[in-house]
Amino acid sequence: MLAMNYRGPQRVRVSHKPMPEIKHPEDAIVRVTRSCICGSDLHLYNGNVPDTRVGMTFGHEFIGIVEEVGSDVHNVKVGDHVLVPFNIACGKCHFCRQGLYGNCHESNTQATAVGGIFGYSHTAGGYDGGQAEYVRVPYANVGPTVIPPGMDPDDAVMLTDVVPTGYQAAEMGGIQPGDTVVVFGAGPVGIMAARCSWLFGAGRVIVLDQYEYRLEFVKNYANCEVYNFKEMDDPVVFIKRITDWMGADVVIDAVGAEAAGSALQTITGRKTLLQAGSATALHWAINSVKKGGIVSIVGVYGPTDNLVPIGNVVNKGLTLRANQASVKRLLPRLIEHVQNGVLNPKALITHRVPLEEAADAYRMFSSKLDNCIKPVLIPPSARF
Ligand SMILES: NC(=O)c1ccc[n+]([C@@H]2O[C@H](COP(=O)([O-])OP(=O)(O)OC[C@H]3O[C@@H](n4cnc5c(N)ncnc54)[C@H](O)[C@@H]3O)[C@@H](O)[C@H]2O)c1
Ligand SMILES: [Zn+2]
Ligand SMILES: [Zn+2]
Repeated sequence: MLAMNYRGPQRVRVSHKPMPEIKHPEDAIVRVTRSCICGSDLHLYNGNVPDTRVGMTFGHEFIGIVEEVGSDVHNVKVGDHVLVPFNIACGKCHFCRQGLYGNCHESNTQATAVGGIFGYSHTAGGYDGGQAEYVRVPYANVGPTVIPPGMDPDDAVMLTDVVPTGYQAAEMGGIQPGDTVVVFGAGPVGIMAARCSWLFGAGRVIVLDQYEYRLEFVKNYANCEVYNFKEMDDPVVFIKRITDWMGADVVIDAVGAEAAGSALQTITGRKTLLQAGSATALHWAINSVKKGGIVSIVGVYGPTDNLVPIGNVVNKGLTLRANQASVKRLLPRLIEHVQNGVLNPKALITHRVPLEEAADAYRMFSSKLDNCIKPVLIPPSARF
C-alpha cells in the first residue's frame, strides 16, 4: 500500500509499505478515506520529537472504512465509515475510566505520561498512522465511531482532533461569563479554540499570530479581535494595555514547540534542541494572563525541559491546565454541535492533496504557503 514515510527532518516521501495486519483480536484495519496534516505532525517533521524513527508513517487525524476486524471487535463492523480519535485508548484502565483517554495507561508502553497516539513517534507508542491507504486501529471497540448519516466526511475528519482540541482548550480555561480570552496561535487549533471560547460564555476573544491570512480567517470565522505579534514590540505589554493593564482572564497556548517570536527560544528550542521546543507562546501566556488567571495549554511540547517562567506562575497565583485532548469524551457533544450547525469545522480545510503528494503538502503546511490553514490528504481509492 501507499504510505507517507518519514526519512528524517524535513524529509518525507510516499512509498510502498506492507499492508497492516490484525495483530490482536481487538484490532481493526481501516481503509483511509481522508487524513489531515496537523501542527503536531510538524514537531515530528522538524525532528523535534525524540525517537521519531525513519520509516514511520505519521497521521493521527483520519477517517475511513472498516476493512477487517479481529475476533473480539463488536462495536464496529466491516463496511462502517468511521472517524478515529487520535488517542489510542484501552477504555478500561484507571485513566480511561475517568475520561482521560489521552492518558491511557495501557496503549503506550514507552511512557507514563501520554497514551498511545497514531503516527506519533515511539514516545507515543510507535503506532503507524493514517497518512496511508490502510491503517491498523488497536482497541477498535473504543475509539472508532461510526460517522453519523449525512455528516460531511470533511467535518468528520476534523472531529478526530482539531474540534475536540480547540473545544478542550476553551473548557480547560474555565471561562466565566464575560471573561476576556486571549488565544496565541491562529492555526486550526487556535481558530477552533477561539470559536469555542464563545460557547463557554467569553465576553471578548482576542487572537494573536504572525500570519495575516490566518488572522483574517479567524477574525471572520470566530468573530474575534486579531493582532499580529510581529507588529508589536512586546506582546505581553500589548495585551496588558488592551485589558486595562490587568491582563486577560484566560490565555490559551495553541502554538506549542514551533513557536516564533523569540530568538533565544528559537535557537535553544528549535535549532540546537537544548530545550524541548520553543516556549515563546507559553512564556507570553503566563506573563499576559491576569493574577489568579488560568493558562490553558494545548500546544504540544517535548517530554523534557523547557524555559518556562515558573516563578511568575507562583507569584501571580496562576492555574496551568494542559493535556492532549480527550477526543472520545467530547465526541457526543461535538457531533451534536456539528450536526446543529453550531460548529462548521470543514471551513478550515483549504487544500485537498492526493496522498502521493504528501511531501508537497508538508512543505506547504510547514512553511504556511498558499494561505494554507488545513490540508487533507486523499488516498487514490477515495478519489472519484
Ligand atoms: N493537545 C492536543 O490534543 C493537541 C491536538 C492537536 C494539536 N495540538 C498542538 O496545537 C498546536 C497548534 O496546532 P495547529 O495544527 O493549529 O498548528 P499550526 O502550525 O497550523 O499553527 C500554529 C500557529 O501558531 C502561530 N505562532 C507561532 N509562534 C507564535 C507565537 N509566539 N504566538 C502566537 N502564535 C504563534 C503560527 O504562526 C501558526 O499560525 C501544535 O503545538 C500542535 O501540536 C495539540
Ligand atoms: Zn492533530
Ligand atoms: Zn486506558
